[in-house]
Amino acid sequence: MSYYLNTTANYHKNDLTTLGWELTVCNSLEPPDSPCRKALKHPGSFGSLLYHFLARQIPLPEITSILEIGGGMGYLMRDFLSLNPSFKTTMLDISPFLLSRQKAALGNYNFKYQEMDIMDASADYLAGFELVILNENLGDFPTFVYQVNNDAAADISTVERLKYFRENYQLPLTLRENINIGALEVLEKLCRAEIKYIYLSEHSCEALLPENFAVTMEWKTNDNPEKISLQGHDEFTIKFSFLQKIAERFNYQVTRGCFADFLEPDFNDRVQTSLRLVAAHTDEQEILRQFIYDLFKYEYLILKKEE
Ligand SMILES: C[S@@+](CC[C@H](N)C(=O)[O-])C[C@H]1O[C@@H](n2cnc3c(N)ncnc32)[C@H](O)[C@@H]1O
Repeated sequence: MSYYLNTTANYHKNDLTTLGWELTVCNSLEPPDSPCRKALKHPGSFGSLLYHFLARQIPLPEITSILEIGGGMGYLMRDFLSLNPSFKTTMLDISPFLLSRQKAALGNYNFKYQEMDIMDASADYLAGFELVILNENLGDFPTFVYQVNNDAAADISTVERLKYFRENYQLPLTLRENINIGALEVLEKLCRAEIKYIYLSEHSCEALLPENFAVTMEWKTNDNPEKISLQGHDEFTIKFSFLQKIAERFNYQVTRGCFADFLEPDFNDRVQTSLRLVAAHTDEQEILRQFIYDLFKYEYLILKKEE
């Protein structure tokens, strides 16, 4: 039972100079003429569609302090602030490059920023925020990667960290799988800090393809977080059932779903044609196929602390 620890910290601190090749769903909806917007029943930017969805479940107008962790280009928070300029906002990010992009995107608004690895944040620091947002970034946090052909014993600190989660949260860790240790530890920290509302999302290894969904792309639902290789780093899909268990243990009310809940796809002729093809003929078809796939592959949790 041997693991190595996959981390992306060094890459994000020192090497990242563009998010262009890592097209998040948020970024793919940014250009007003994006083909992805035309594949939605209610076209719009990611942040505005998410804001209106969250507002149906969380009293957003009553919230003052909000923290976004890993805000990338800053588009999501720019949309939130345009809809609610009274938010007292902090942007926390490990990447100096992306913090500079966030400053540019939020230029007209008052906000604080913090260059920090979220793994190093203390519960005291986090405790002052009422709403914390983590969008499409948990897969970047450290992951224990199971090494199939290596029988060497895991080191003592790995064993202790896994034992802690198995015993305290009854997580059925099989010891034969990749483990999103960073995501588990960050969520535990946020729950301990008694953040009232938490929204998080990421590629899920447990997402289900809807029945009668005619798509020619490969779809895997898996118990085991899967590696996604990107430029300069690897990230992993997230096992949401483990995060859900932790939140429930701290008496959070949990809403779980996929992006299609608030980015409702419009299966118009263009979209249907793209999905039916075995291989895309045009760039737009390729973009649409990936986008619709992501709407179901990305899961979110909305966590509300029970009074
Ligand atoms: C894939 S991008 C997602 C950006 C944005 N939330 C979006 O949806 O477009 C991941 C973001 O998380 C940040 N990040 C990754 N690891 C982090 C860590 N350990 N602590 C803080 N931020 C981190 C990256 O710098 C980047 O801003």
